[in-house]
Amino acid sequence: MEKKHWNRRELLKSLGVTAAAAPLAASGPFKGMSSEVSPVKEILPYPLKRDRKPGRPVTAIVVGAGSRGWGAYSSYGLKYPDELQIVGVAEPIPYRRERMAKAFNIPEKHQFITWEHVFELPKFADAIIVTTPDDLHYGPAMAGLELGYDLLLEKVIAQTWKECNDILQLTEEKNAIVAVCHVLRYSPYYRKLKEIADSGAIGQVVSVQHLEPVERIHMSHSFVRGNWGNSLKSNPMILSKSCHDTDILRWVIGKPSQRVSSFGSLTLFREEMAPEGSTDRCTGGCAVEDSCPYSALKIYLEKRTWLQHLTLEEVNKETILRELKNGPYGRCVYRCDNDVVDHQISNFEFEGGITVAFSMEALTHYGGRRTRIFGTEGDLMGDERTLTITNAITGKQELWDASKASKDSSGHGGGDHGLVHDFVRAVDAKDPSLLTSTIQVSMESHLMGFQAEASRLDGGKIREINL
Ligand SMILES: NC(=O)c1ccc[n+]([C@@H]2O[C@H](COP(=O)([O-])OP(=O)(O)OC[C@H]3O[C@@H](n4cnc5c(N)ncnc54)[C@H](O)[C@@H]3O)[C@@H](O)[C@H]2O)c1
Repeated sequence: MEKKHWNRRELLKSLGVTAAAAPLAASGPFKGMSSEVSPVKEILPYPLKRDRKPGRPVTAIVVGAGSRGWGAYSSYGLKYPDELQIVGVAEPIPYRRERMAKAFNIPEKHQFITWEHVFELPKFADAIIVTTPDDLHYGPAMAGLELGYDLLLEKVIAQTWKECNDILQLTEEKNAIVAVCHVLRYSPYYRKLKEIADSGAIGQVVSVQHLEPVERIHMSHSFVRGNWGNSLKSNPMILSKSCHDTDILRWVIGKPSQRVSSFGSLTLFREEMAPEGSTDRCTGGCAVEDSCPYSALKIYLEKRTWLQHLTLEEVNKETILRELKNGPYGRCVYRCDNDVVDHQISNFEFEGGITVAFSMEALTHYGGRRTRIFGTEGDLMGDERTLTITNAITGKQELWDASKASKDSSGHGGGDHGLVHDFVRAVDAKDPSLLTSTIQVSMESHLMGFQAEASRLDGGKIREINL
């Protein structure tokens, strides 16, 4: 999400409304209505306060100390050591393992090179934080549950529907707390979106149009060169990127999704599209490197963006160049082993005839999901920063702004720490009702993804979604 804090004039302008025009003239879309725009209201951060603090710090072992394990979740323990302590780490890349061990004073006997070693010891913490790559969720999740650990489990739960069900079954057998990292549910913006939909402010929800604009460079980094480019090694795009979307849609609508039809393909990032004179690597004397928007030299060396997934014990020109010459992120975007789609549309029908048109578009110059919800008494528009509710009867508009709440908090608009906040309380109290994204409620939105992908591979044939 963009971190800019907007003033009211900028916000109204972005919504196509000038400050001077509020209350709006009775023209345009509100012709004949006495329409009016209320003052912009600020969406407050979540968690509001650290209430119901655990009686003692919850202890956890991080399995996979990369971008999420370190930056998104362990950072909560650094900020609030009275709530979360990391007492073990499994990570094959030495500097990542050592960074965690040093920050939390982890004894050598609890530092492991790979996740399997953690489970050779008797249980020594409350929970496992599973932040390994997608194809390494199932192993540590099952082994952890078997030994009686609770789990903070990164999405996607697992690579197949059967594996997801195995994890669910063992969770229930062991009476474990398993939080799936659907972090958007914990962000102030999405909490407000759901609150508005639930409040009846736009009447009964009839339909939804939802766009996930991935942004070109993000696409090239994560879903072409990076960990999520190949569906066999990770998951199809509708799960690896869009399980957040199916989850938010399911959560906000509050009813089961029953059918799906989906189309999509990979158009741009294929060898056939490679410009003449391009080479296997951007560092290999590529004739078009200078004009290529996906030049690894520009993205990683010049702009120093997206470095969190490169193996860099120190960030400097030499280490970045070494990675670009040898590692996955220096590869030409037209010559990778990627197969995930760069555009996909999925139509879902929910109970009660509610329709959802969902688009994932990689080739955008902007990010930030756009959601429009249409109800019997009004509609709602949102862009992950602002929300506008329009009452169909009075034409009155209510504006909400989450930019301050997002700016002041952790990643995913505050959702990363919001999730850990609720997780430690749920583990301490052994009460899954303190979480909004248990594995039990996350299964359905995963099934939406599995069935959408099955439909896409089957030429868009309708698939039923039956839990
Ligand atoms: N919830 C979200 O919004 C969100 C966002 C991004 C990624 N993710 C998910 O989080 C997970 C991790 O993603 P990331 O961005 O942190 O990736 P990452 O590559 O930065 O981190 C994964 C770490 O796991 C380590 N690892 C590999 N094999 C291992 C093994 N055998 N034992 C222990 N550790 C091992 C890697 O060395 C790496 O450091 C993925 O499943 C990804 O899909 C979720």
